Amino acid sequence: MKGLILSGGLGTRLRPLTYTSAKQLVPVANRPILFYGIEAVVASGISEVGIIVGETKREIMEAVGDGHRWGARVTYIEQDAPLGLAHAVLIARDFLEDDPFVMYLGDNLVKDGIAPFVEAFRREHPPCQILLARVPNPRQFGVAELRDGRVVRLVEKPQHPPSDLALVGVYMFDASVHEAVRAIRPSARGELEITDAIQWLIDTGKVVRPTIIEGWWKDTGKLEDILEANRIILDTLQARTEGEVVASELHGKVVIEEAAKIIRSVIRGPAIIGRGALIEDSYIGPFTSIGDGVVIRESEVEHSIILEGASVTEIGGRIENSLIGKNVRVYRSGGKPRAYNLMLGDRSEIGLV
Ligand code: DAU
Repeated sequence: MKGLILSGGLGTRLRPLTYTSAKQLVPVANRPILFYGIEAVVASGISEVGIIVGETKREIMEAVGDGHRWGARVTYIEQDAPLGLAHAVLIARDFLEDDPFVMYLGDNLVKDGIAPFVEAFRREHPPCQILLARVPNPRQFGVAELRDGRVVRLVEKPQHPPSDLALVGVYMFDASVHEAVRAIRPSARGELEITDAIQWLIDTGKVVRPTIIEGWWKDTGKLEDILEANRIILDTLQARTEGEVVASELHGKVVIEEAAKIIRSVIRGPAIIGRGALIEDSYIGPFTSIGDGVVIRESEVEHSIILEGASVTEIGGRIENSLIGKNVRVYRSGGKPRAYNLMLGDRSEIGLV
């Protein structure tokens, strides 16, 4: 069995971060979201992995490499434009051959992995198996309608959802999907939809088996989803201290990476402090990921993600529910007149008090 991980696309809902970086590389607990997906696929016994890459291919390839770190062999498949999830299957034809495969959307996080679902697919080999989860906002997803334990209809981001069962971004197929992706036409939004391809399978008499998952799952396309993913994953870490802690207090699950320095500060976990970071005269609250080389001085940060190389100094308040990009500087300017000095990229957001 092979794995196909989708890591192309544009990430428009995460601008401005995605102007300069791939959305699948935004870190959760200091590791790119994509890595959790690769791990989940490999842990289900798959070592041949194809990764669909688009505009951000250079960055993805640099981060993932050839896959040997996970004991996998990675093949990159270039998609000229994000023409849809079914288009990704179409262009992966040579890589996939006629093997059954699991398709995993690179911005999805399934906390407990996918091994049992892949195992069931291997055992029973239906033409297609999909994962579903009950959600309060089905309009934002592909939605399934079930009858007698089978999927009878799938609709992509419907105005009037037929159920609250959203498609999780993990799908399993046998070779019959190749005919389906060739048969369908682009949707109103101009994409070849995988939901239409699966509907085509249903309409041609193929069994599409649903599995409703109970565990935690997230599509990390938006800021609040990334913060929630960060919260859930941080909670699974084991406390460890490899850096230096001086005159400071650490409470709960706190990870301090190598060469990080914590000086006269309080860190309340779950939290992670990246390699070479400096936390001085500060408070780091629960559910916070501080990236490599970040400097936090005389400031408070809670329930946030601060990416590598950023600094927050003497802000005289608390940063909360925030995602701060690489090498961003937030500081107190001090001088007169008392005014905010800002240099914000397009679509930045700041909430002042
Ligand atoms: O997350 C679950 C949802 O994912 C499902 O409920 C929907 O049925 C499914 O269509 C999909 O919806 P999204 O709108 O969230 O898909 P998105 O455009 O964000 O793409 C998902 C991943 O696939 C993302 O990592 C980017 C990548 N991608 C996307 C497209 C359209 C590609 O690599 N190539 C593409 O052409």
